[in-house]
Amino acid sequence: MQVYLNGSFIEQENAAISIADRGFVFGDGVYEVTRVVNGSFFQEKEHLDRLDEGLKGLKIKLDQELRNRIPELSRELLQRNGHTEGEATVYLQVTRGAAFPRTHTFPDPEVPATLFLSSGHFKPHNELHENGVKVITVPDVRWSRCNLKTVNLLPNTLAKQQAKDAGVNSAIMIRDGVITESPNANIFAVKDETLYTFPASNYILNGITRRVVIDIAEGLNIPLTTEPVRLDDLYELDEIFFTGTTTDIQPIIDVDGRAIGGGKPGKIVRAIQAEYKKRLH
Ligand code: PDD
Repeated sequence: MQVYLNGSFIEQENAAISIADRGFVFGDGVYEVTRVVNGSFFQEKEHLDRLDEGLKGLKIKLDQELRNRIPELSRELLQRNGHTEGEATVYLQVTRGAAFPRTHTFPDPEVPATLFLSSGHFKPHNELHENGVKVITVPDVRWSRCNLKTVNLLPNTLAKQQAKDAGVNSAIMIRDGVITESPNANIFAVKDETLYTFPASNYILNGITRRVVIDIAEGLNIPLTTEPVRLDDLYELDEIFFTGTTTDIQPIIDVDGRAIGGGKPGKIVRAIQAEYKKRLH
C-alpha cells in the first residue's frame, strides 16, 4: 500500500515525518476524509473547499500549485493502490510543516507545509444502517472552533472510547444543555415530523453529509429547523440519526439505555437513507 507524502508516492511503512513536524508536536494541522465510489469522488469540491477554509482558519500556507494538484494526486494514489473499484476513502492531512526548535509561534522563516494522502478500501456499516445503534451522552468538552477540521481530536477519541467501554457504538455530545454532534458525525433529530439539527456555527463541524441531508430533506418536503435540541427533550424524540462520510446515515435506537422511537429506526431516517444511497452510488 502506498501513500503520498511531501512530493513522493512511497510504501506506507517507509513513510516518515520529522519529529519537529508541527502536526506531531502541536496537533497543528487539518484533515479531510472523502468517500470514493468506483473511482468517483463524492462531494469532492465541498471537501476541498472545507480544507481551504481550515487552512485559512489556522493560517497554514499550502503552496497553491500543490493545493491545486490534490485531485490529481488523490486519483494517482487510488490507481496505485487498486482502490478505483468499489468503495474507498481518501484521507488527507496538511500540517504547518517541520521546524526546530520547538516554538509555539509559527516558524520564521516559513517552512513548507506537510501534505499527506492515504487511501483504503471501505466497507459500509450496512448492519448498523439497517438495525440502528446504541449511544451514550457525554459532555462536549471541545474548544470553541469546532468548525475547523483539525487533527486535535482528543475529546473525540476519549468520547468514542468511553462509548466503547460502555458497550455502545458512539456518543452524543452535550454543550450547555443541548445536543451538538457526535465525535465523528453530525446529528439529526425528528420530533412531530420536523427535522432538527444544530446550526452550522463554531460549535460543530459543518459536515458535508449534513449538507447533503439538508438538501435531501428539502427535496422530500420534510420541514427542517436548526433550533438546537435540549438534553431534557432528547429521550422523547421520535427519531435520531448520525450523518457522516464514513458513518453514512445511521439510525440511533437507544440513548443512555432508553429506547428512542420504540427502539427501531423511524420512517424519516429510512426515507433519507434511501435517497442518500441513490446520490452516493
Ligand atoms: N469525521 N463532526 C465531526 C466531529 C466529524 O469528525 C465528522 C467527520 C463529521 C461529519 O462530517 P462529514 O459529513 O463531512 O464527513 C461531523 C471524519 C469522517 C473522521 O474524523 O473520520
